Amino acid sequence: MKTTDVNAFTLKNGALFAENVPLSTIADTYHTPCYVYSKAALIDAFQQFQLGLLGTNHLICFAVKANPSLAILNLFASLGAGFDIVSGGELARVLAAGGNPQKIVFSGVGKSHEEMRAALNAGILCFNVESENELHRLNSVAAEMGKIAPISLRVNPNVDAKTHPYISTGLKNNKFGVAFESAAQLYEQAAAMPNIAVHGVDCHIGSQITELSPFLDALDRVLSLVDHLETKGISIAHIDVGGGIGITYADETPPAFAEYAKAIMQKLVGRNVKVMFEPGRALVGNAGVMLTKVEYLKMGNLDDADKPKHFAIVDAAMNDLMRPALYDAYHEIVAVEPRDGEAHTYEVVGPVCESGDFLGHDRLLNIQEGDLLAVKSAGAYGMSMASNYNTRARAAEIMVDGDQHYVIRAREKIEDLFALEIVPSPR
Ligand code: LLP
Repeated sequence: MKTTDVNAFTLKNGALFAENVPLSTIADTYHTPCYVYSKAALIDAFQQFQLGLLGTNHLICFAVKANPSLAILNLFASLGAGFDIVSGGELARVLAAGGNPQKIVFSGVGKSHEEMRAALNAGILCFNVESENELHRLNSVAAEMGKIAPISLRVNPNVDAKTHPYISTGLKNNKFGVAFESAAQLYEQAAAMPNIAVHGVDCHIGSQITELSPFLDALDRVLSLVDHLETKGISIAHIDVGGGIGITYADETPPAFAEYAKAIMQKLVGRNVKVMFEPGRALVGNAGVMLTKVEYLKMGNLDDADKPKHFAIVDAAMNDLMRPALYDAYHEIVAVEPRDGEAHTYEVVGPVCESGDFLGHDRLLNIQEGDLLAVKSAGAYGMSMASNYNTRARAAEIMVDGDQHYVIRAREKIEDLFALEIVPSPR
């Protein structure tokens, strides 16, 4: 099941389009590499999620880290979204994009004094507190400011999200959250702190989760905690079930939003709580592609006894899309203008000087130098994890809306990359 119904990137008359715009037009206009997003797909993903929650007391907080583009944050804000942030930088972005501070939750294990102050000044909805020491720090920062900090504890339910170890967060050996066993006692401490107000319980078990059961197991544990707290006179107004719902990159079959929402809401029947969600990937992942151009084909020796290795060297690299190099993640790669004739199996690689710089292994493609490729499902954790490694300027980001297209982030200029650097004058 795909997470959006709008398939914005389709072949029309033998060429790949973003909505009604040929991707070749995007490449001609803005050059490559670039990220291309479909506004309709972004809206559709958000609305599908909302639809699954119709009639319930809920708040969808987009996880900014998945794609912090101001234009995308602004679009989600206009649809009523809240935001899950993990830094003062993300707070500033949400505010700059017109997000409502009263719909912001602040997660993360390392909130600094300054970040706490900025969030208290902005008047955010809730701090998702991840440790005892963070709770004490927040209480004293709030006291200095004469404010009360609204909190949830992020509890670690110790369930296996069955996903890549780097993106699994709900096991007790992860650095995230408060151990389930100590959560009740910490809530009692929090409830007694003068500058802390207990609002909710939070949990997030990992990312790219394609089954319902880990979410439901985690929620069962959270609900047992909520019931226990009730007996101690601590009432919980909201339950934040985190993000993590997966998307289809290849042949994964994550639950549809409606199915996921229904399963969660079923467990909450009869409870007077608001439910909060922190989806990132599922709202943006399949609404974006990375567009790149083949610079060189480097063919292996066809007489080689082993399978010859052919390389398609493209103008995007691991600095632009890090997921393949970092997680061995799969992204489908397709020709923008597919050719007839014989295809070859290629390693699709970038110009960065590392053997780990690949976008895809063993891809059957019929391509020539100068052809355009679209790296699909790149809307989440693509541009947000891009770097300037090898002094490569980060790609432009383009939004497509019907037959319109426009820049939402200009390509970086090389001189910007060293603008902050100082060469010391000789002594
Ligand atoms: N809430 C919290 C507290 C999180 O840590 C995350 C993601 C989310 C929500 C959103 O999760 P999502 O719905 O996107 O799965 N860079 C990795 C993914 C890291 C996810 C980190 N936390 C990747 O490219 O796969």
